[in-house]
Amino acid sequence: MDSIPDINNINDTYQQALGELSNNKSEQDLSLWRTKYLGRKGILTGLLRNLKETPIDSRREIGQQLNNIKNLLEKNYEDAVNAAGELVNKNSNVHNVDITMPGRPIQNGRLHPTTQMIREICEAFLSMGFDIAEGPEVEWEYYNFDALNIPSDHPARDMWDTLWLESDKQEKGNILLRTHTSPMQARIMENREPPVRVVVPGKVFRYEASDATHEWHFYQVEGLAVDQGLTFADLKGTLFEFAKRIFGENRKIRFRCDYFPFVEPGVDMSIDCFACSDSGSISTENCSICKRTGWIEIMGAGMVHPRVLEQAGYDPEKYTGFAFGLGPERIAMLKYGIDDIRHFYSNDIRFLNQF
Ligand code: DAH
Repeated sequence: MDSIPDINNINDTYQQALGELSNNKSEQDLSLWRTKYLGRKGILTGLLRNLKETPIDSRREIGQQLNNIKNLLEKNYEDAVNAAGELVNKNSNVHNVDITMPGRPIQNGRLHPTTQMIREICEAFLSMGFDIAEGPEVEWEYYNFDALNIPSDHPARDMWDTLWLESDKQEKGNILLRTHTSPMQARIMENREPPVRVVVPGKVFRYEASDATHEWHFYQVEGLAVDQGLTFADLKGTLFEFAKRIFGENRKIRFRCDYFPFVEPGVDMSIDCFACSDSGSISTENCSICKRTGWIEIMGAGMVHPRVLEQAGYDPEKYTGFAFGLGPERIAMLKYGIDDIRHFYSNDIRFLNQF
């Protein structure tokens, strides 16, 4: 039976409720506290229910007091619940850190496959007495074309779809993104006296859509050797040695005539297919690497055109030279069986991690 409310037991109840509230910290305890005082069968609810039993003259005052206390206790209860919630959050943050858990390993970076291939190619030429030079990716029209025996009306300009830059400056024609590394042949000859033996790795750009064998930007390694008395035999010896270093001692090479305006004669160089000729298990008729021909083209080359020598300030009567250009991505694709050049620049860590 609930007691009849009077000023004394109201205040006692209030003090007692506050005291208990301050001792209850968990959400579960707080909920029990609420049931005890403010629940349907709670102490305060009982006092309110018995209000009608109080003498009529003090009922109003006691009723007000009871309601005040009820509101105050509700408010205190909410504050206590909020405080408990914050505490739980704080504690859970602390407990979520498991200091015994092993750390995440730091992912080591590595050289991009193209960079690795370029280094391997340059290494092979370095050991044959070549040095390395680099040149501008943003180039004058003159070096990209004119200095290489490709005048503006020459149909060979169609072979290089060019990205032109807008510029007010027109020192040596317009400005473009170089379409090959060959312009460095002219730049090097303008600045050095023979003998010259140099390889030039670098990025080149073409205005064309990407597919499995074409990218709008890719790399080339250019080579140039100029001296007195250099012949096609020197070209052959050097490039044969290179092919063996990259693709193995057993390689054979084949030259076929090709046309590049800055060399004469010009050739494309192929190696015999390392997939079908070495393995024995794949027959050439079924080989996808060499497309059933037994040969794989790996670069363009030739004897430097006398006009190119002359334009750069070398006497073509005195000096001869050979030049070559190859694509490191293509070499890597052949060597590692990569079927799509776009893998190189799509930043897929699953591809890059394999090198
Ligand atoms: N520059 C040529 C290209 O981008 C490649 C090339 C062919 C370079 C023959 C040479 C060369 O130096 O002799 O297709």
